[in-house]
Amino acid sequence: MPGASTPSSYASSAPTKTAASVLVLGAADGAVLGLDSAKSARASLDDMMRAIEFTGKAGSTARIPSPKGFAADSVLLVGLGSFDPTGSGPETESANQEALRRAAGTALRGLNGADQIAVALPAATPADVEAVTVGADLGAYRFLDYVSDDGDKAPGAVTVLGPKGRPFAAAHKAGATIAAATNRARDLVNTPPLDLYPETFAQLVSDQGKDRRLKVTVLTEKELQAGGYGGILGVGQGSTRGPRLVKVEYAPKGARRHLSFVGKGITFDSGGLSLKPAASMEDMKSDMSGAAAVVQAVFAIAELGLPVRATAWLPLAENMPGSSAIRPSDVLKMRSGKTVEVTNTDAEGRLVLADALADADAENPDLLVDVATLTGAQVVALGTRTSGVMGTESARTAVTEAAAAAGEEMWAMPIPEEMLTGFESNAADLKNSGPRHGGMLAAAAFLREFVGDETAWAHIDIAGPSFNTASAFGYTPVGGTGAAVRTLIELARDAD
Ligand code: BES
Ligand code: MN
Ligand code: ZN
Repeated sequence: MPGASTPSSYASSAPTKTAASVLVLGAADGAVLGLDSAKSARASLDDMMRAIEFTGKAGSTARIPSPKGFAADSVLLVGLGSFDPTGSGPETESANQEALRRAAGTALRGLNGADQIAVALPAATPADVEAVTVGADLGAYRFLDYVSDDGDKAPGAVTVLGPKGRPFAAAHKAGATIAAATNRARDLVNTPPLDLYPETFAQLVSDQGKDRRLKVTVLTEKELQAGGYGGILGVGQGSTRGPRLVKVEYAPKGARRHLSFVGKGITFDSGGLSLKPAASMEDMKSDMSGAAAVVQAVFAIAELGLPVRATAWLPLAENMPGSSAIRPSDVLKMRSGKTVEVTNTDAEGRLVLADALADADAENPDLLVDVATLTGAQVVALGTRTSGVMGTESARTAVTEAAAAAGEEMWAMPIPEEMLTGFESNAADLKNSGPRHGGMLAAAAFLREFVGDETAWAHIDIAGPSFNTASAFGYTPVGGTGAAVRTLIELARDAD
């Protein structure tokens, strides 16, 4: 699995004087923004925009030959939508930054084969520069590992333009680091399950962890048996490719807080013996998106050198209906000691998460967050772009605030008291499938049984947002999206 697209570089040359095949400029309310010191160039561009009726609607683009006064060959106009150049206050700032991310993403998503691209969107602060960089590098993402002719399908070298000075260059570097982590998560999600299964996933994490000088521990099947990981083993036993539990540790000297992330890593979810219908199985290579997100977030936290301890736990298994698969009515003895009657083998995510959550919780982290493509009910409740966040109040708030700052759509949801009674079993402490109504909340109630009462814990259900089966938009491509990576990094930035 080779790397994604090359990251952008940063420069502070004037947009009009920058030589490029394409100069990306942003417009809102019928006027181009960010060309304040180039009055005549701006005026001729505004004239052209009027002529082609380009108003600057979010998501719109128009490529035109450069008017006089530009060193670039062509200009790609991109709509900034509701961007408010005069606005202040944190809400306007974060809305503006998302507008920048999306505009940069839209621009780079449409540029195939252009060799030199300069992105000159209106970035006034270091945070703006970071946003443009994240959007551009995410928009430049292509997954071409499995296509024969990738000749002109990727954009060429990208330079982000912005103000001079160390804080701006540092913001560009941070943005590139964050986008690269998100793109690596997308690569993992997009890789077919023929190639990405627990063993190869664990190997890749070990290699990437070594590059960053992080501690990576992989528990094999034997070690999982010795440790009593009944949930991970039970889910994995129907596949010829055995399960793993991977732990990645970043522990800088002097760190005061410890963040622990657990990610669901089902490399393919057939449903097991409770087999999914064909249409529901099509995208189930993405059922390891949570694991991809947590590991790449910890890698980015390490690369950014953030002064917090961060641990990623990846319970990896392939949910298959082989002849050694668990059956409905089987009882699993979980890592925590609790027993679970499996009433539906397609409710497998909560089983592997339960074991990893028990281990993560035993280290008493200051914040425990799990990320999972857990329920179809998430998509019913919140749609394909908004993740559901459940858990203790403080953790839930920390996550939704970090998401808002990072530009990810997440919404707090409750765990109603009556949910747990639906998991009562005659044969074991719990059964694994509970109430149908409010299925996302029910799954959270099950997970909570494996987390200590004192732990600040949040569960993020990314079933819909992790994999885009509709059209690409902004910086979000079709396929793996890298959902939750940016939110987890933001949590670590807040934590010191
Ligand atoms: N991986 C699925 C959830 C899912 C559905 C993710 C659609 C992404 C898109 C999960 O393992 C699952 O099958 N959940 C069941 C739970 C049920 C059997 C209690 C579901 O949501 O139907
Ligand atoms: Mn399932
Ligand atoms: Zn699943």
